[in-house]
Parts: sequence; structure tokens; C-alpha cells
Amino acid sequence: MPVLGLGTAADPFPAPEVVVKAVLEAIELGYRMFDTASVYQTEEALGEAISQALSLGLIKSRDEVFITSKIWCSDNYGDRVIPALQKTLQNLKMEYLDQYLIHFPVSLKPGAPYPYSPEDVVPIDLKSVWSAMEECQTLGLTKSIGVSNFTCKKLADILAFAKIPPAVNQVEMNPAWQQGKLIEYCHANGIAIAAYSPLGGPGANWGSKGVLESKVLMEIAESKGKSVAQVALRWVYEQGVVIVMKSFNRERLKQNLEIFDWELSDEESKKIAKIPQNRTVLALSFISESGPFKSLEELWDGEQ
Ligand code: A2P
Repeated sequence: MPVLGLGTAADPFPAPEVVVKAVLEAIELGYRMFDTASVYQTEEALGEAISQALSLGLIKSRDEVFITSKIWCSDNYGDRVIPALQKTLQNLKMEYLDQYLIHFPVSLKPGAPYPYSPEDVVPIDLKSVWSAMEECQTLGLTKSIGVSNFTCKKLADILAFAKIPPAVNQVEMNPAWQQGKLIEYCHANGIAIAAYSPLGGPGANWGSKGVLESKVLMEIAESKGKSVAQVALRWVYEQGVVIVMKSFNRERLKQNLEIFDWELSDEESKKIAKIPQNRTVLALSFISESGPFKSLEELWDGEQ
């Protein structure tokens, strides 16, 4: 799995041509990992960009790129997982994924619209969903399987019955939400962490400017002649975590790749460790009085 990839989630949903252009530019610049999800509505555009990259000779074969997608919550049922992955593959016009993830540890009523309402949230049967995910891998529809937005507790639930343990847990992670305990737990259990919103997701309605406007990061960036984004991405990389960054801008795509030939000093890392911590992606819309998660505490298992 490459250590730096391009995410394609945007809010509002991006126009297909914007995604195609950004992915082609990213491939030209050297990106080889791309992240999508059925709920992002970018699978088709990503697949189109990869086809164009092949026709243009930017890559020689599909195997040169690492593609991740995620099952949406309304398909989090044992008998819906394989059809959902088949639909994703059809959208991407691909034979297989490199990684297929459970997007959230939550089920929505089958066919629930998007945006959904809190009444659509129902208990998830994690065992049957995971067992169908395992079948996806056994069938060769995906090379690996994993999860997203899982806490240590929910990972432990999966590990208790998994025949194939999750390869990765993709979570919000950046200098303003460092996820120290989760990283320790995942690494101790052989699960990779992939960081989404490594810059705090400033452009999205779920994101914050807490990273790009952090005074600590600004000072470090200025003293090193780097951008704040580069310092944040470098910090994530130094935690042994895979980065899923989003930019549809060529200059920023280029800038964000330039984080591998320098490092943060111990002193700088210590300053970053003290940045105030806040979870930005709360997933409040999964909380309801009558549903399986009555509070954020329950959804996130009180974990920091
Ligand atoms: P844009 O797509 O216009 O480049 P995250 O990766 O944390 O989800 O953050 C994504 C947001 O950060 C997007 O709005 C993206 O905007 C912006 N972004 C990406 N790279 C940079 C950068 N180097 N400097 C400033 N903003 C950036």
C-alpha cells in the first residue's frame, strides 16, 4: 500500500470532470493510490481517469494503482455486501479492488436515501457483514479488506470472530486529532492506520481549519521553509500512518508530495504533541434516541 494517496470525497459532490482531471494530474505527478467510496459518487470518475491514464500510457496496467472503496451503511448486511462490491467494480470498470472497507460501523435501513435520517439507523450485525467482506477477498473481488471509523472496542469485536483480520482502519487523523491510543492498538494488532482529513478537511462541511490555522504548525512551517500542509502531512507520515489527502489542485498535489526528503525535529514533534485535540468528524447524524447509538459516547466508545 503506497504511503500517500489521493482521496476523492468532496462536499458538495464534485463534478466528474473535476475528479478525472485531478486524478490524471495526480498520476502524472506520481500518485499511485486513490480512495473512493460508493457514497462519494466518485467511483465512476475515478474509473474513467484510470482508463484514460492507461490509454495515455501514464500507467501500463491497472496493477500499478492501488484502489480503495468503501461499502455504504445501507449495504451493511451479510447478503448485500457482495452485490454492493460488484456495483462498485462496475462503476470503476475494474475486475478487483485493492482494498474494500466498511465505511462506518453502522447499518442504515436497506435502500435508505442519502442524506438519511436518524430513524434509518439500525443495529449492525458486524459478524455477518465481516464474514461477507471475507468472502469478497476469498472470491478475489478485492485484494484486502478493512474498516473505517472503527474504535479500538469495535475492532476488538471484529478480531474476536475474524478469519481474516482487517488490514487497515481508515480514520480521521491529523495534528489536531492525533489518535495516539488507536494507533497503538492497531499497530499492536497488525492493523495499518490510514489517515483521512490529514489537513483537517478544511474545505468540507465536516472539516475544520484547526490544522491549517494552527499557530504551532505555522511557526514550524515558517522556520523550515515548508507550508503548514506539508508539516501536517509529514507529521502524519512520521507516525507510521498511511495518508489519504484530498486536493483537486495541481500545485497543491505537487506540494503535498514533497514531504519525504526532510523531517521534523524531536522538539518540533513535542510541540505538535501539545496541540489541543478535537474530533471533527463526529457523525452526529448516526445518533438518535431510538437508534443503536444514543450518544456520541456510544458511537465512539468514549475513546479519544
Ligand atoms: P483543494 O482541493 O482546493 O486543494 P484533507 O486532505 O484534510 O481532507 O483536506 C482537504 C482540503 O485541503 C481540500 O479543501 C484541499 O483543497 C485543501 N488542501 C489540500 N492540500 C492543501 C495545501 N497544500 N494547502 C492548503 N490547502 C490544501
